[in-house]
Amino acid sequence: MQIKHIIAANPADMARKAANMIAAQVLMKPKCVLGLATGSTPIGVYAELIRRCREGDISFRDVTSVNLDEYCNIPAFSKNSYRCYMEENLFTGIDIAPPSTFLPDGMAADFDEECRRYTELIDRMGGIDLQLLGIGMNGHIGFNEPADVFTMDTYRVALSKSTREANAVHFEDGMEGMPTHALTMGMRPIMQARRIVLVAGANKKDILEEALCGPVTPRVPASILQLHPRLSVVYSET
Ligand code: F6R
Repeated sequence: MQIKHIIAANPADMARKAANMIAAQVLMKPKCVLGLATGSTPIGVYAELIRRCREGDISFRDVTSVNLDEYCNIPAFSKNSYRCYMEENLFTGIDIAPPSTFLPDGMAADFDEECRRYTELIDRMGGIDLQLLGIGMNGHIGFNEPADVFTMDTYRVALSKSTREANAVHFEDGMEGMPTHALTMGMRPIMQARRIVLVAGANKKDILEEALCGPVTPRVPASILQLHPRLSVVYSET
């Protein structure tokens, strides 16, 4: 196990440091596959990547992106969907080709089939070069919630109460509009990613410590990352 801990002074510093790693990945391999996350924490990272792309420092022209998760039964055009989050916070600000951006289809008629399709899609891409992760208050990564076992490939997951409460703040109608289920990448493509960058703010101090220093258990899903050979954790102290 080799975890690289990068301490950032504040969220802006965290965003810059995580963006440095993503930019380096894209410069090193322009035709790379980036695994992307949503949530509050990566927003600054994406803003930093947009700035660098606009200034001509990096290009995402040949990049393929594959997101971790999407809510079930929220249409892609809804502002609550993760597709919409990605368009607003990253895709429309950079020069990535829209057909090269992938998220699970939360409106699929057959979720089992959609999960199979997404798993195969990632495999056909040859896996992920760099996976950006956040961490939930309960230790989830993607929407891999605490459970009895680690699930390996894309699946439909029931969101935990704490996750629904944490994310309901982003929904206009709060818990009312908050979906009960999501489609998420499982642990296999995450763990097979050639490099992982996990970003976490000061509010994640305790769960981060539990995940990285405690036992590896599906009760704390992020603990599996202890087994990843190239994990960088960018943690903001404030
Ligand atoms: C979403 C995702 C989640 C978030 C986590 C933390 O795509 O992967 O695991 O990273 O819920 O969210 P924030 O950053 O909002 O605290």
